[in-house]
Amino acid sequence: MSAPVPADRPMTAPDFAAAKGQRRLSVLTAYDYTTARLFDAAGVDAILVGDSLGMVVQGNADCLRVTLDEMIYHTRCVARGAKRALVIGDMPFLSFQLSPESALANAGRLIKESDAQAVKLEGGQRTAAAIERMVAAGIPVMAHIGLTPQSVRAIGGFKVQRDAERLKADAKAVESAGAFSVVVECVPTELAGELTALIKIPTIGIGAGNQCDGQVLVGADMLGMFDDVRPKFVKRFGELGAAARQAAEAYCRDVRSGTFPGPENSFR
Ligand code: KIV
Repeated sequence: MSAPVPADRPMTAPDFAAAKGQRRLSVLTAYDYTTARLFDAAGVDAILVGDSLGMVVQGNADCLRVTLDEMIYHTRCVARGAKRALVIGDMPFLSFQLSPESALANAGRLIKESDAQAVKLEGGQRTAAAIERMVAAGIPVMAHIGLTPQSVRAIGGFKVQRDAERLKADAKAVESAGAFSVVVECVPTELAGELTALIKIPTIGIGAGNQCDGQVLVGADMLGMFDDVRPKFVKRFGELGAAARQAAEAYCRDVRSGTFPGPENSFR
């Protein structure tokens, strides 16, 4: 299998879409420059500046309070740190639901003011018109179906989505609207596999098993830094939360005992 990973230039949305059937795509969320640099250097295909920052950065119970200005700010920080990965900015709650025109205006702000290469928005059939409008204006769009966290209050919680007919119609609708890829969240493995076979754009799973074209995780979950919620689908590839706490404890000890700063950290 050939691997369309551009070695000498940043990843584009068309590169990302062309990877379907060639190789599996890895995506992580990040919200700041330093983390973006680390993930970019690790070779991740795309960095999603998710509105999950409402929980991970801001400490809210869900993502609904996040504003477009906050998304622009964090996406700009990430874009500065990503030299190769595709940077995708998430459209926050009520920035795209009111009308396709206001959705386009807000997506345009996110792209122009943050240097994002693409935007992501939640919803299948119900957001197809907004996706179409953005794509016609030259904005690459990643869609998001299955569990859509911005609708968590209507859904009644973070629940697995099993309505196969609706999910298939959603996947087809976002593909026809011109999305270059689609996140599939909290869907049983076999159904996610059926969606992946049904459409020609890459499916990026989260809580959707191993039959998608790629995978996304919240960076802080994968690093073992975020404990407020621990969904079953998260695998912790590191324990940076524990390491950070131990480092902070060692710092407090050394400051209190007077061993830090030592001569090597001081000026004569
Ligand atoms: O906001 C986010 O981080 C997301 C991913 C979990 C897909 O939408």
